[in-house]
Amino acid sequence: MKALVLSGGLGTRLRPLTHSMAKQLVPVANKPVLVHCLEAIRRIGITEAGIIVGDHADEITAEIGDGASLGLDITYIRQEAPLGLAHCVAVAEDFLGDDDFVMYLGDNVLVEGIGAAAESFAARRPAAQILVTKVLDPRQYGVAEVGDDQVVRGLVEKPADPVSDLAVIGVYFFTPAIHEAVRAIRPSGRGELEITDALQHLVAEGRTVTAFEYSGYWQDTGKTDGLLECNRVLLDRIEREVHGRIDDESRIDGAVFVAPGATVTRSRLTGPLVIGPGTVVRNSRIGPHTALGEGCTVQDADVEDSILLDGAVLDGVGPVRGSLIGRRSRVTSPPGAHAHRLVVGDDCRAVVA
Ligand code: TTP
Repeated sequence: MKALVLSGGLGTRLRPLTHSMAKQLVPVANKPVLVHCLEAIRRIGITEAGIIVGDHADEITAEIGDGASLGLDITYIRQEAPLGLAHCVAVAEDFLGDDDFVMYLGDNVLVEGIGAAAESFAARRPAAQILVTKVLDPRQYGVAEVGDDQVVRGLVEKPADPVSDLAVIGVYFFTPAIHEAVRAIRPSGRGELEITDALQHLVAEGRTVTAFEYSGYWQDTGKTDGLLECNRVLLDRIEREVHGRIDDESRIDGAVFVAPGATVTRSRLTGPLVIGPGTVVRNSRIGPHTALGEGCTVQDADVEDSILLDGAVLDGVGPVRGSLIGRRSRVTSPPGAHAHRLVVGDDCRAVVA
């Protein structure tokens, strides 16, 4: 079995970060979302993975390389434009050949992994198996109508009147039957080749599509709120490990991970939190649920429930809550400042207290 990981797309909902980086490389608990996906794939025994890449191809290739460090053999497959999830299957057809494969959206995180789903697919080997999970408001998702035998009767995108509370999530298991279905469908109203249409085609042709109900924590990290929530959930699972230098005037409580080369002085750290290599924390209050990337500087600040990407600076500001601060961005409040002075890029959001 192979894996196809979708790491193209536009990522409009995660602007401004996605103007300059792939959303799949945004870190949760200091590890890119895409690495969480690839680890989940490796854990079910797959070694051959294709990654669909778009405009951010170079950055993704630089970060993941040939996959050897993850125990994977990775092939990059270029998608010229984000023409839909089923289009990804079409452009990967040569790579996939006659193999079964798991298709994994590179911005989805399934904290409990996909082991049980993979076993269920192997045991029954339907033409395709989708993953579904119960959600409170199915109207925002693709919704599956599933019989008692776990067979999918139909799929509807964002229904006004949902037939079930089972939302389709971003991991699919396919046999090569999917290729013919992809060839049979036409672009949707939004101009994309929809995987839902390909699945519907299989159902209409009398092929068996099953649904596996995933009951663990799942998140689509393509939006800020989802990303921050996922960060909280993953941080809740870390263990205390302190490598960097912490002075005697600092206090640490709870699950705190401090990477080698980080320094913390006169500060209060309340876990769960992670502090990346080379990051400097001075005279600040950090956490809980905070991830500081590599080479950040946080001084005279108070930050909680937030993610700072590599090289970000927070100086003299607080309380900072529910925030996502991009690479090398600086949020400062120098002594004597008496007005907000903002240089904010395209599509940013700033809420000033
Ligand atoms: P989406 O989140 O549905 O699409 P998007 O990345 O364009 O985001 P937005 O709606 O915010 O603009 O995509 C799900 C995953 O699939 C994501 O990892 C990107 C990837 N993808 C592709 O690789 N190629 C595609 O053609 C599409 C539509 C998505």
